[in-house]
Amino acid sequence: MYAIPFLDLPPLRSAGGTVRLPGSKSISNRVLLLAGLCAGTTLIHDVLESDDTAVMLEALRRLGCTIEPRGTRLAVTGLGGRLQVRVAELFLGNAGTAMRPLTAALAVLAGTQGGDYTLSGVPRMHERPIGDLVDALHQLGCTIDYLGQPGYPPLRLRGETGTRLPADVAPIRVRGDVSSQFLTALLLALPLLAAEQALTIAVDGELISKPYVEITLALLARFGVQVERRGWERFTIPAGSAYRSPGEIHVEADASTASYFIAAGAIAAVDRPVRIAGVGTDSIQGDIRFADAARAMGADVASGPGFLEVRRGRYPLTAIELDCNHIPDAAMTLAVMALYARGTTRLTNIASWRVKETDRIAAMSAELTKLGASVRAGDDCIEVTPPETWQPAAIRTYDDHRIAMCFSLAAFNPLAGSAGVPVRILDPRCVAKTFPDYFETFFGLAAARADDIPVITIDGPTASGKGTIASAVAQALGYRLLDSGALYRATAIAALDAEVGADDEDRLARLAAGLDLRFDDGATKLAGVDVTERLREEAVGALASKVAALPEVRDALRDLQLSFRRLPGLVADGRDMGTVIFPGAPLKVFLRASAATRAERRYKQLISKGIPANIDSLRADLLARDVRDASRSVAPLKPAEDAVIVDNSELSVEATVERVLSCWQQRTSFPGSAPT
Ligand code: DC
Repeated sequence: MYAIPFLDLPPLRSAGGTVRLPGSKSISNRVLLLAGLCAGTTLIHDVLESDDTAVMLEALRRLGCTIEPRGTRLAVTGLGGRLQVRVAELFLGNAGTAMRPLTAALAVLAGTQGGDYTLSGVPRMHERPIGDLVDALHQLGCTIDYLGQPGYPPLRLRGETGTRLPADVAPIRVRGDVSSQFLTALLLALPLLAAEQALTIAVDGELISKPYVEITLALLARFGVQVERRGWERFTIPAGSAYRSPGEIHVEADASTASYFIAAGAIAAVDRPVRIAGVGTDSIQGDIRFADAARAMGADVASGPGFLEVRRGRYPLTAIELDCNHIPDAAMTLAVMALYARGTTRLTNIASWRVKETDRIAAMSAELTKLGASVRAGDDCIEVTPPETWQPAAIRTYDDHRIAMCFSLAAFNPLAGSAGVPVRILDPRCVAKTFPDYFETFFGLAAARADDIPVITIDGPTASGKGTIASAVAQALGYRLLDSGALYRATAIAALDAEVGADDEDRLARLAAGLDLRFDDGATKLAGVDVTERLREEAVGALASKVAALPEVRDALRDLQLSFRRLPGLVADGRDMGTVIFPGAPLKVFLRASAATRAERRYKQLISKGIPANIDSLRADLLARDVRDASRSVAPLKPAEDAVIVDNSELSVEATVERVLSCWQQRTSFPGSAPT
């Protein structure tokens, strides 16, 4: 409902622990297709769950492959090179890693066995070129028609049974200087034709993104096809090649994504290492060589099959000069690590940064400068000298997931002599392209001082709308939520179940201290039992109000409430969040609404759940509860002295949320750039 316009990272002081990274998209889709083409069943571990892999899976299903989840694995039973479904329409979303290789594979299969396939995608996919691949497939003798713009999907692939491909024995020429995916697509498809004859691909132009072609070659080898290559110009699939399932295969985690966690370890793993599960030095991804660059800067990187373990080594880090042609994406992480180095780091041969999701040289320069660094950008290089004084900054992300991820590392600035400044990441959701849970995972490793973690308190009387507002504010800011009323209500449930009287303070306090309460996925569990519905019962609320008046019970719940103050921030709602539990919170809101409005809201809530209610008695009940909450001796309900009072009797939920968010933005304004 409320888009997150920004995410504020408090100053961070250390990192440590284990992360399991999502599988690489490129490897997932290649492995899925290979498993779908070969005979027998392949058990695939750690396939990435994303839009792009979902369309590949759906396409394979439509073509007759059997796909079954087995725990965290997928069992894919392939076609064995024989088409089972001769006519199909395949929708491939915006997945280039599905469109290109499926076009090649289906064109050659239809070309020899007969078939008629349409391949389409979202409008953006129909603007992504495929002409170079289609030209190469035409040389083989495939029949491919453009259904829209020439050179772009959608495509129709057709063929007659018994046609012999290739039509000609000359090498198939393909351009390598636009996208390496065309070569990859051919390499994945041609083994289907190589039973009796060798097939050669000749690359025109300087091949770009070689590491991705290396991934293709490594995976072909795992599926039984050894490609011979001469430099990066000629690739030959030997006669007699055929796909053979490896039986079982692991999808590696994305090595570029690992770079952020390697860097976090190099900068901040002071007490315990950062362990990265899912990718190791046996990786087939070129970007794994980022680990060597991090070592050169001082990181202590240990590794084995499928894992990396990083500690802080030399520190401050050492400034380096490095040709980054082999690790273009991960090199952005080095530019941010440079903030923690002594001296000037110079990264060269990064011209490709200019034509990625955004002009990354310009973007990195602008954003590093905002933090206080001195930056010199050239046509194909960048030089970064750490800030003398760190500045709080709002980092623009240019719809580029990698900028959002690498700038999270700037939050470790207290480790570089800064007094501790927060870092604002604008439009943080752009990380979803490869790693929707990036920030969650990052915060799972990072540690901040409790005082540095922001808290917004929202107090007010019963039915003033606190819960709804707090949860919307937390969602908008990406913060955690504490519904402290639920703790008192849970204590009431525990008391009812254990038949403890409302005046037995001692036993009630013990029940409160021992609450086994868990909040997961919108459900609240007490001692393993789902009590989400019961928590809202009127009888439970009434008893909660009584137990909440007992000082020992309030004391017993204090530590539990404080423990909710975790990265990146907390929105806490209740009665005494601003006055007692988080008195130093930078924003305290006190919500008010007239008794009539509150009674009406509660009435509607109950009726909508099919619970009979009477508005007059609800109103009387609310007022009685107000009196009890306000007149008790401990933590009586009252606004904190510095609270912002919001009367929402006449305000919609949206307007109230906007009011709170705008108060928050005023208090946390960052120089440089307003949130977009
Ligand atoms: O907000 P609620 O209706 O879920 O709260 C249940 C009871 O707990 C309510 O009577 C007041 C009490 N409470 C409290 O005393 N202090 C809090 N921080 C939250 C709730």
